[in-house]
Amino acid sequence: MQSLLITGGAGFIGSNFTRHVAQKTNANIVVLDALTYAGNLANVESLIRTGRIHFVRGDVCDVALARSLFRQHDITTVVHFAAESHVDRSIVGPAEFLRTNIHGTYVLLEAAREAWSGDTSDTKFLHVSTDEVFGEISEECGRFSEATAYNPSSPYSASKAASDHLARAWNRTYGVPVLITNCSNNYGPWQFPEKLIPLVILNALEGRDIPVYGDGLQVRDWLHVDDHCTGIMALLEGGNPGETYLLGGNCERRNIDVVHAICDAVDSFRDSPPGTSRALVTHVRDRPGHDRRYAVDPSKISQTVGWGPVRELEEAIPGLVRWYDEHEAWTSAIRSGAYVEFYARQYEST
Ligand code: NAD
Ligand code: TYD
Repeated sequence: MQSLLITGGAGFIGSNFTRHVAQKTNANIVVLDALTYAGNLANVESLIRTGRIHFVRGDVCDVALARSLFRQHDITTVVHFAAESHVDRSIVGPAEFLRTNIHGTYVLLEAAREAWSGDTSDTKFLHVSTDEVFGEISEECGRFSEATAYNPSSPYSASKAASDHLARAWNRTYGVPVLITNCSNNYGPWQFPEKLIPLVILNALEGRDIPVYGDGLQVRDWLHVDDHCTGIMALLEGGNPGETYLLGGNCERRNIDVVHAICDAVDSFRDSPPGTSRALVTHVRDRPGHDRRYAVDPSKISQTVGWGPVRELEEAIPGLVRWYDEHEAWTSAIRSGAYVEFYARQYEST
């Protein structure tokens, strides 16, 4: 991994991963990010200031830019995070999801194919995707595996499914050394507070209503972002091009239980009477096409590179509450209140 291109490196997972690689390796790191609403330079500011990474503000759909980055920096490894990533936004406005997630992936794959056409030894293109491409899975059917058929429900997951198909096709047809990862729900620091965990933490800290979609009995499999980063690193070292790997936290939880755990942690943090934050929980209209359950079997990556999750959700939550409280400047710069209004329009109280 001499020269690494990280797309979406100013977003949630991308910035955590960029910090991780910057600390653990000597790789030359180029971050390409368009800084959409979810991208935030503050997430990687210290790495830019110290010159540890080369940051380029740009669009993954920009063919000339993608080509020039490969040439200029002699890129040998790509980790492709850049995407529109929020299901609710994809329901309201799918176009940007199709453009960035599908066309953007195509542009990068083509740039890699062109740049590496002479020699693909020591090159890797790791395409970061989601378990949501499989749609929902019932308890009786067990967990998602690499053999599970694609069955996406939302415009977001459909766009990610399409991008996975392109990545696989560029491997089979052109021999681009692509690896695909399908990961479960991440949580951790620097996550944009439109996603469940940071949204609930901030709303509880601020004493605002906590929106729970429908009955709140939907199940997600939660993975700490640090574990996601170590999984990607392990695959860059020992994963096989042409293969897909599923990453999960062995941590299936019902949404309502996650929400309650956060509420209780915030009450302890604030020294509030038990039940204070739980009283903010407001059941709102369910998300259209809402997948009921995701669950990932991470056996393949575990057998291939010995990776497994080490962080525990319930242990991590109090620290995460503290992190979001301590980063008040970061969160208030993001949260002008517009997001609350956005959701208020989409999901009326029931
Ligand atoms: P995020 O929304 O926090 O960050 C996405 C980043 O991509 C932002 O910095 C944004 O500015 C950038 N971006 C968007 N459009 C761009 C464009 N056209 N050109 C260049 N940059 C652009 O997302 P995240 O949660 O960090 O997710 C990163 C990746 O991981 C995505 O591909 C997502 O599908 C995948 N993933 C996320 C999760 C999760 O739980 N968050 C789980 C599994 C997989
Ligand atoms: P989210 O963090 O948006 O991730 P994803 O939709 O990709 O799984 O949502 C996680 C779960 O929490 C999902 O079942 C939807 C639910 N949810 C709520 O109940 N309330 C909220 O305000 C949000 C953002 C999500």
